[in-house]
Amino acid sequence: MTGQPLDPAALFKQQAAIQAATLVKDGMAVGLGTGSTATFVVAELGRRIREEGLRICAIPTSDATEAQAREEGIPLTSFGEHPDLDIAIDGADEIEPGTLNLVKGRGGALLREKIVAAAAKQLVIVADASKYVEHLGMLCPVPVEVVPFGWESAATRLARLGAHVAPRKHRDGSFYLTDEKNLIMDCVFGPIEDPDTLSQSIYGIVGVIEHGLFLHMATQTITAGPEGIKILE
Ligand code: 5RP
Repeated sequence: MTGQPLDPAALFKQQAAIQAATLVKDGMAVGLGTGSTATFVVAELGRRIREEGLRICAIPTSDATEAQAREEGIPLTSFGEHPDLDIAIDGADEIEPGTLNLVKGRGGALLREKIVAAAAKQLVIVADASKYVEHLGMLCPVPVEVVPFGWESAATRLARLGAHVAPRKHRDGSFYLTDEKNLIMDCVFGPIEDPDTLSQSIYGIVGVIEHGLFLHMATQTITAGPEGIKILE
């Protein structure tokens, strides 16, 4: 992570990431998140492996993170060897500070991210302070991963839950495909008053594989902003 000086938002992300990386200790099996903030975590763990002799193994949440982890020399493992992880560190698109409930998946990695989060004893979220919201859904759509077959039917049912639904696409108009070769429906619900009920309703739609509401999963959030580092747990 050398080169251009970082803009303020990136600096905050880096500060939060470096703080979170101190929670990683020798011998841990670590879930590595996806996104621009998680990138700083992976870089810091790579640095600690090279400079401090930190000994860990890791499971990445995306092909992109896997590529970065390999470049950083972080040893990778599998759920076969480590069905339980000691810690996962990942970013978020929205954080509700009172509950630590999250929206994730803007980077399209929500399925693997949720599998890794569910396997981890601690889920530590790193972000810049702009990610706090009063209610989930205020800033971002909730991404919902669906199988390609019959996606229009799943999208119609998501709309019936009250969302404005847009299949995620590339600039050239082609469908965005996740690492698991599924589609993402970006669902704008507006402020979500009852995320648990919405979560169950989304899971009830056949063809839905996972959604970006990460409820009751985060054990700690570490954010950085103009007022410094803030830790919630
Ligand atoms: C990817 C994610 C990311 O963690 C989330 O989008 C935050 O990304 P960034 O750190 O770039 O703001 O959920 O699927």
